[in-house]
Amino acid sequence: MKVVAINSSPRMGNGNTALILNPFLDGMREAGAEVELFYTKKLKINPCQGCLTCWLKTPGVCFQKDDMEMLRPKLHEADVWVLATPLYVDGMTGPMKNLLDRIIPSVYPFIELRDGHCRHPLRQGHKKGKVVLVSNSGFWEMDNFDPLVVHVEAICKNMRSEFAGALLRPHGELLKPLIDMGRSPDDVFEAAKEAGRQLVQEGKMSPEALSTVSRELARQESYVRGANQVFQQTLDALEKPVAVEK
Ligand SMILES: Cc1cc2nc3c(=O)[nH]c(=O)nc-3n(C[C@H](O)[C@H](O)[C@H](O)COP(=O)(O)O)c2cc1C
Repeated sequence: MKVVAINSSPRMGNGNTALILNPFLDGMREAGAEVELFYTKKLKINPCQGCLTCWLKTPGVCFQKDDMEMLRPKLHEADVWVLATPLYVDGMTGPMKNLLDRIIPSVYPFIELRDGHCRHPLRQGHKKGKVVLVSNSGFWEMDNFDPLVVHVEAICKNMRSEFAGALLRPHGELLKPLIDMGRSPDDVFEAAKEAGRQLVQEGKMSPEALSTVSRELARQESYVRGANQVFQQTLDALEKPVAVEK
């Protein structure tokens, strides 16, 4: 099984998204998958220019010469795409959206009706694989992910992929402080790994594993209070007069 994972956090491997993504990918590797991980921050992927050259002048080929030339064939051949993004303004990050806009050469301009809905037919050579979403948010509630999940589900319908589910980590900003305090939520990380193993071995992730990944790490009120205290202390420290040595 070939897996292409894309992490679009600008914090890359040091971010909160990676804390869930990496054990998930470890689980997939342990179960025998061949995993390639890319960080959008390290890739040069220009935005789509909307010129439709890839549809009407050089069918299937974008005129832009950048890292999409390397990535597109890997995405075509992959059995699983893992799209990892922190929640940014209620959706995916800009670099992740730029990357996904650039898969337009993979479909024909023609419109077909599938289940009474307009879709573009896929070009030859594009595997109809699975897509997994991994996301991490600052806000406490799970419903902050709703617009992102709907978006990724729609992309799957358009690309004839199967939406295999999402590893969603609300109040993910708490993961690192808990680790630093010696209270690492290891069950959450283990569940992410287990979900990876399950996807490779059984073709699906269990609701139990996914709900453990998302489990409450603190009560809503104490999370809000704690976060605000940290922000206030950080801002107060800025305003402190600098000590002058005598
Ligand atoms: C520009 C920006 C926009 C954000 N928008 C949201 C948001 O709409 N909802 C939310 O819950 N968290 C939001 N966050 C918080 C991040 O999702 C959160 O800090 C996440 O854990 C960051 O993951 P990372 O460390 O992998 O980058 C935002 C953060 C930034 C920097």
